[in-house]
Amino acid sequence: MQATEITKETPVGKLAAEAPATTRVFARHGIDYCCGGGVALGAACEARGVAFDGVLAELTDELTAKDTDLKSWVGAPLEELIDHIIEAFHRPLEEELPRIDGMLRKVFEVHGDKDPERLAELVNTFSALKAELEQHMLKEERILFPLIRQGQGAMAGGPVHVMRLEHDGAGEAIARLRALTDDFTPPAEACTTWRALYHALAEFEEAMHTHIHLENNVLFPSALGA
Ligand SMILES: [Fe+2]
Ligand SMILES: [Fe+2]
Repeated sequence: MQATEITKETPVGKLAAEAPATTRVFARHGIDYCCGGGVALGAACEARGVAFDGVLAELTDELTAKDTDLKSWVGAPLEELIDHIIEAFHRPLEEELPRIDGMLRKVFEVHGDKDPERLAELVNTFSALKAELEQHMLKEERILFPLIRQGQGAMAGGPVHVMRLEHDGAGEAIARLRALTDDFTPPAEACTTWRALYHALAEFEEAMHTHIHLENNVLFPSALGA
C-alpha cells in the first residue's frame, strides 16, 4: 500500500492489514481499525472529530519514515548524536512500549487459548523488557548522556560498561521475541490486531538494533576516546 493510494474511501481495516504501521496513527486518534475496520477512512476521521488531511499526513509519514542516515553519525559531534538518539529512539519508545504491551495483552486475552505457552511467554518477555528499557533509558538520559555532553565521557567507563551489559540483555530478549513469533510471522488465522502486533514487534526490533548500534559502536567508543 502506497501513501498515494489512500483516499477518504479507503477502508480503515484494509490500511491496517496491508500497512500495519498505520495502526500507530489510528491508535493515536482512537480510530477503531479492528472491530470498525470496514468503515471508510474519511468517515472514521469524521466520527472521531479529527481532520482527514492531518491524519493523511501522519499516515504518509508512517509509510515513508525510515532512518537511513547511519553512516553520517560516525565523526558527528556527540551532542548531536545524543539528541538524535533521544529524538529518534527514546521518545518514540515511550509511545511504542505501552502500545505494543497493550496489543500483546489484548491478543493474549482473546486468543491465548490458541497457543497458550508461547503467547504467555511472549507477554512476560516483553513486559520484563519494557520495564528494563524504561529504566535503561532513564539512566542514559539522567547520568551517562549528561556526562558525555559535559565532555567527561572518558570518565564514564563504569556507566558505559553497565549500559553495554544491559544492551546485551535487551538483545537476548528481542531474539527471544523473534523466536516466539516465528520471525514475527502471524499465524494464518491471526486477526488484524495480532498481525499489527507482530508488525510492531518487527519494527521495534529493527529500531532497537539501530539504536543499540549507534550507542555501542558510535557513541560509546567516541565518548571514551577509544
Ligand atoms: Fe538508548
Ligand atoms: Fe542504551
